[in-house]
Amino acid sequence: MFMSSRSQLASWQALSESAKKMKQIHLKNLFAEDSARFEQFSTQIPGVLFDYSKQHIDKTVFEQLISLAKECNVSAWREKMFSGEKINITEDRAVLHTALRNRANTAIVVDGENVTDAVNAELAKMKTFVNKVRSGEWRGYTGKAVKDVVAIGVGGSNLGPQMATEALAAYADDTLNVHYVSNVDGVQIASVLKELDAETTLFVISSKTFTTSETMTNAKTAVEWFLQAADAQTHIAKHFVAVSTNLEKTAAFGIADENVFTMWDWVGGRFSLWSAIGLPIALYLGFDAFEAILEGAFEVDEHFKNADFETNIPLLMALLSVWNTSFLGHTSHAILPYDQALHMLPAYLQQGEMESNGKHVNFAGDTVPYTTVPIIWGMTGINGQHAFYQCLHQGNVIVPADFIASIEPQVNVGKHHDILLSNFFAQTEAMMAGVDAEQVTTDLTAKGKSEAEIAELLNHKIHQGNRPTTSMLLDKVDAKTVGRLIALYEHKIFCQGIILEICSFDQWGVELGKGLASKIEAELCDDSVSHPHDSSTNGLIAYYKTHRKQ
Ligand code: F6P
Repeated sequence: MFMSSRSQLASWQALSESAKKMKQIHLKNLFAEDSARFEQFSTQIPGVLFDYSKQHIDKTVFEQLISLAKECNVSAWREKMFSGEKINITEDRAVLHTALRNRANTAIVVDGENVTDAVNAELAKMKTFVNKVRSGEWRGYTGKAVKDVVAIGVGGSNLGPQMATEALAAYADDTLNVHYVSNVDGVQIASVLKELDAETTLFVISSKTFTTSETMTNAKTAVEWFLQAADAQTHIAKHFVAVSTNLEKTAAFGIADENVFTMWDWVGGRFSLWSAIGLPIALYLGFDAFEAILEGAFEVDEHFKNADFETNIPLLMALLSVWNTSFLGHTSHAILPYDQALHMLPAYLQQGEMESNGKHVNFAGDTVPYTTVPIIWGMTGINGQHAFYQCLHQGNVIVPADFIASIEPQVNVGKHHDILLSNFFAQTEAMMAGVDAEQVTTDLTAKGKSEAEIAELLNHKIHQGNRPTTSMLLDKVDAKTVGRLIALYEHKIFCQGIILEICSFDQWGVELGKGLASKIEAELCDDSVSHPHDSSTNGLIAYYKTHRKQ
């Protein structure tokens, strides 16, 4: 079998041996043997407590993981990323989302240009625009102020802004409403537009490439809807702005250059909420809140650059993911926020992690012999408890999970928060310790069950435990914390990519389906067009065409 350079490393081989041993050791025994386990395996940065003591590691595994990070030259790669080297090797691009929140204003030079100046100029343009719209100085075609913003975009041009908007909605005033449209299913845009008035609606069309079919289709529908009321192309200038790198396409679409907010090819779509892609967040919450998000992320950038490996939270997150996935064989990972404000975090991180590291070849293009990224999924913890946690507790696949909660709720209602948090604490304890046969027997005996009844129920009630989890306790979900949290995961993704030798910043895997869809679209719209397909696809297309209403 092909041995990648990673699996030949001494630390990788030591970890493979450790994995065999650790599979025989129950997590609760690790706690029983070491009363200082929490102190040993938890760390903090301002606003975030990171407890990984319920992960399936011991001191030896921890040291081997740190050695792995060293052997993979994570610090050298980190330096390359922050300084603007073109580490997106398959697209020959720098990876500089950190430059978008470089609050220290240090110079970062790419292809002879100081990108910090360009970033600051764009932030200033955003600020002016946001202030004009929010103050009512920006007027629509009939002289009315904007009341509703419709943000059209998909993937990285939607998930980040929408997730942050939902996370921080508790702090919004009633200046503006923001609506997100990402799906090309007409139901979504139709239900948004039917509530709106063209005179007071501003559209933000966000697409790095300005070629994404779903976004362009929604944008065209929005223009048609707007022109039905406004009746003159010239009015578009007051109601449509764009965020893109592609000025040619935005101009061809009819958006005036001064209404285009730019971004750069060194900003990956899924890492772009810090750029003008975050415009809907700033419009909704105000520019100060947007800057607070940038500041939170900048704090984490500094932590990631400067903290020792042993206390470096993003690096630890990545190492634990690699340990769970590539060594222990757990191929899925749940994100479980115990905070309603973070309800879109699992969806956001699905793109972040899986579009970045869901690949099977290494930097050199050779197929790697290990599992790379786990399947990322999840939902708010409480709702999950009443849906899929049964499987997390007693299913025969082990799903490592991140539990995320905040100490202070955004809204304090009676005893709600203590009840919420008691579930947060209880679930990771239960997943770690489980309930063994002895305990089940004792409990059932205390309830007066007979020996026969106990024998019948015993195996059904045993919880094996030994399920690894990480707990993140945030001070409060505010703008700074949202910035911190997202940046922690972004750097986790980067470290994971380096350790697994995955090119994290391209996404060739989404192109195949896009190309096929555009061919099939031609077939659906024009009977004279036909492309060769397999019999299933042919049958499905034919069935659709004969049954659809003309
Ligand atoms: O789904 C593929 C993808 O290219 C993502 O990486 C990106 O975030 C999304 O489409 C949207 O792309 P764009 O911003 O160019 O419309």
